[in-house]
Amino acid sequence: MSSDTTPLRVLVPTLEDLPPDPQEQRLAALYGLPEHPHVRVNMVSSVDGGAWGDDGRSGSINDAADWRLFRVLRALADVVLVGAGTARAESYTALDRPRGLEHLSPGPLELALVTRSGRVPAGALDGPRLPWVVTGAAGAATASAAVGDDRVVVVPDDDGAIDLEAGLATLAAHGLGRVLCEGGPRLLGSMLTAGLVDELCVTTTPHLVGAGPGRIVAGPPTADPALASERVPADQLRPARLDRLLVAPSGTLLATWDLRRRT
Ligand SMILES: NC(=O)c1ccc[n+]([C@@H]2O[C@H](COP(=O)([O-])OP(=O)(O)OC[C@H]3O[C@@H](n4cnc5c(N)ncnc54)[C@H](OP(=O)(O)O)[C@@H]3O)[C@@H](O)[C@H]2O)c1
Repeated sequence: MSSDTTPLRVLVPTLEDLPPDPQEQRLAALYGLPEHPHVRVNMVSSVDGGAWGDDGRSGSINDAADWRLFRVLRALADVVLVGAGTARAESYTALDRPRGLEHLSPGPLELALVTRSGRVPAGALDGPRLPWVVTGAAGAATASAAVGDDRVVVVPDDDGAIDLEAGLATLAAHGLGRVLCEGGPRLLGSMLTAGLVDELCVTTTPHLVGAGPGRIVAGPPTADPALASERVPADQLRPARLDRLLVAPSGTLLATWDLRRRT
């Protein structure tokens, strides 16, 4: 690759300012979703690539700018999809539209957990609505005991990583086509490998976490953890194209990468 032929553009200062706005109309318009099924992923990373801080949670590396976008993205989606590992680590409970942003999208915000084992964290069973559970044959009975058959989506299971495309299709058939995936790294690895991500929002906050914490992508789960690979085969990944980049005064960068397949 030749290094002297690529033009560069200065993106700071920003061209459009988005001052704090309790209604978040302009931010919501920037991140508006299409009417058809669409998978958006939202992840946060430290400057040195860490997906979590000392406490093992992403909350220790996010900040007010990330939180602002996080709320708007939740306000716009039909369903938040998370891996069971994240639901356990981050103590997910049943979701509500972020307070004050209910006008951005009518109807409840659903939660869908991806799990091979079918184990639903107890916290996710608290609240007005039970979560959806997307699982394979191995987890179906356990999941049904927790949330009931009508909330369980059973899809083919391929050596530990379930068929997520089939799971997304079933959620869409239930009116949950606009998906906000909040990770974690194993679920994102699976989603990327399967080519299921339309849009990847990555917030980079001005934290440094050092060596130790994982990245926002990890290899998919396997039936035998001893055979787990941390690698996602690079030849199965689509190239990304920058869609938008927002900059906060703190230095936090809010990037949206378009991963749709181009013909
Ligand atoms: N930086 C960020 O934006 C961000 C976002 C989310 C999470 N995190 C952090 O990531 C860490 C958790 O990492 P993680 O990789 O364990 O999270 P994860 O992907 O949410 O959880 C892994 C678990 O989810 C289920 N799962 C995921 N993909 C699956 C697939 N394709 N098929 C079947 N089951 C699947 C399995 O659950 P079962 O074991 O039940 O079968 C698997 O053990 C936490 O520290 C959390 O704070 C960071």
